[in-house]
Amino acid sequence: MIQTQEQMIVDAAITSRRSIRAFLPTPVPREDIEAILKVAARAPSGSNTQPWKVYVLTGSIRDRLVAAINAVWHDPAQLSQHKEEYDYYPREWVSPYVDRRRKVGWDLYALLGLTRDNKAGMHAQHGRNFAFFDAPVGLIFTIDRVMEQGSWLDYGMFLQNIMVAARGRGLDTCPQAAFTQFHKVIADVLGLPDSEQLVCGMALGFADTSKIENSLVTERAALGDFATFLE
Ligand SMILES: Cc1cc2nc3c(=O)[nH]c(=O)nc-3n(C[C@H](O)[C@H](O)[C@H](O)COP(=O)(O)O)c2cc1C
Repeated sequence: MIQTQEQMIVDAAITSRRSIRAFLPTPVPREDIEAILKVAARAPSGSNTQPWKVYVLTGSIRDRLVAAINAVWHDPAQLSQHKEEYDYYPREWVSPYVDRRRKVGWDLYALLGLTRDNKAGMHAQHGRNFAFFDAPVGLIFTIDRVMEQGSWLDYGMFLQNIMVAARGRGLDTCPQAAFTQFHKVIADVLGLPDSEQLVCGMALGFADTSKIENSLVTERAALGDFATFLE
């Protein structure tokens, strides 16, 4: 099959996106962040409702949020008070999802030399989320509470557009549902109105390619496992 240049460029932007979990301190120019968000907002949404809201955190506000969440993360008594506002995952895991979830988790921990009995090491690695994996830009996404399930579908398209547009500029990302546990801390530090619900966070910056965790390449199911052609 002959590939056109457009096909190659678009496919490369999509396939070169990976979740990056160690970033360089190199700042991201404000005009690049603005350009990424503007192009991402071309995402489709039901009746063009555009249900996304994003808070772009750099500098001291980013550091304040990181400090506030870390204070809770390292205090078991406080930590037990913080729960997600919505279920990202099923309450009861079944195959094949649970197998995929375990595989990616153990693959990452194996790269980092973390064994199953190293609970402290795993807690520390999960805690890296709350420093945006050292990315200089932290994105926090919210949605108006009046919006329904369909708008969350639209939201995913916006998020993916950000991640792909970042690749076009040599930047990397990690989408982060981990932040949902700390929606109260985030609302407090950012002064979010009650009408907004936290969707997720995202790290944005330049990948530190010297870090072992960034060598993780995840698998995908074969086409026949998820596509059914009815002719
Ligand atoms: C909405 C969303 C939330 C995610 N939340 C986290 C997170 O909190 N922390 C993390 O390290 N990875 C997170 N991930 C990354 C997934 O683990 C990752 O996308 C998956 O393992 C596939 O790997 P890849 O992104 O490198 O292709 C999230 C992904 C998505 C789409």
